[in-house]
Amino acid sequence: MVRNRGLDKGQLYLGDLRRLVSGVIERRGRARVLEAGCGHGVAMLDLAEEFGSALEITGFNLTVVDGDEERLRALASGRGIDHLPRIVFCDASKPLPFDDGSFDVVYSMASLYLYDDKLAFLAECNRILAEDGVARVNPSLHFLNTELPEHRYNHSWEIWRDGELLPLPDYLDGVDGVEFHGPRHGEGVDRSYIELHKRDSLDFGARLISSIDTNFLWHEWGGVLSIYSTQQSFVPRYKRATG
Ligand SMILES: C[S@@+](CC[C@H](N)C(=O)[O-])C[C@H]1O[C@@H](n2cnc3c(N)ncnc32)[C@H](O)[C@@H]1O
Repeated sequence: MVRNRGLDKGQLYLGDLRRLVSGVIERRGRARVLEAGCGHGVAMLDLAEEFGSALEITGFNLTVVDGDEERLRALASGRGIDHLPRIVFCDASKPLPFDDGSFDVVYSMASLYLYDDKLAFLAECNRILAEDGVARVNPSLHFLNTELPEHRYNHSWEIWRDGELLPLPDYLDGVDGVEFHGPRHGEGVDRSYIELHKRDSLDFGARLISSIDTNFLWHEWGGVLSIYSTQQSFVPRYKRATG
C-alpha cells in the first residue's frame, strides 16, 4: 500500500491543491488544513515547506503503522521546516476528534475507499469545515492497478434508489454543497475528486445499509465497499412487526 504520496500527487489527483491553500492564505492570512489518511505525511511536509508559518496542518491515520510523528520528523530532517504537521489517530467512519469549524481545507488522497461509511466521513468534513471551507477527496479505488472483479467495485461504494444502482458522480452532483470533478468513467478517472463546500446542513438523503471489506474476499481488491440506500425509513416486510 502506498503511503508516501506528496504534493505533486495532490496536484494531479485533487485539482490545484496548492492554489486552494494559497487562496485561503491570501484571504485570511493563514490556513488551517487537515489531511485525512495522511500516511507518512509527505504531502503535508511539502505544504509546510511551501507555506511556512501561514499554515497550520494536521493529518490523521487509522494506526501508527500508516505513519506517525516520529516518522514525520525523520522525513522532515534537513528540509528546514519550522512548523511541523501534527498527526492524530482516529477512524474516519466515526465522529472525528476535531471541533466544529476548525479547518479551512480538508483534503484526502487514496484513503476514502478504505472507510466503512464514506458519507459519514463527508458529513464530518462539513461539520469541521469553517465558513467558506472546502474539502477535496478522492472518491475511489482508482489508484489500484489490479484487475477488479466487476465494475461495481470501481467506486468502492454503491448508492441504490428504487432498486437501481445510481452512477456515483450523478448522485453526488445532486447533493447541495457537493460537486464531482473529473471524468465520470473511462480514461483519467484517477483524476476525479469530490469537492465539498461548507453548508449549514448537508443532506445526502441516503443511509448506510452495509459495508464489506473486500480485502477479506480477495487481498488484491483492497477497498471497503459501502452500500447505501436512498430509502431512509424502509423496513423490509419480513422484519416488520406482525400483528
Ligand atoms: C493507501 S494509504 C494513503 C496514504 C496517503 N494519503 C498517500 O496517498 O500516500 C491509506 C490511508 O488511509 C488511512 N485510513 C484507512 N482507513 C482509515 C480509517 N477507517 N480511518 C482513518 N484513516 C484510515 C490509513 O491510515 C492510510 O493513511
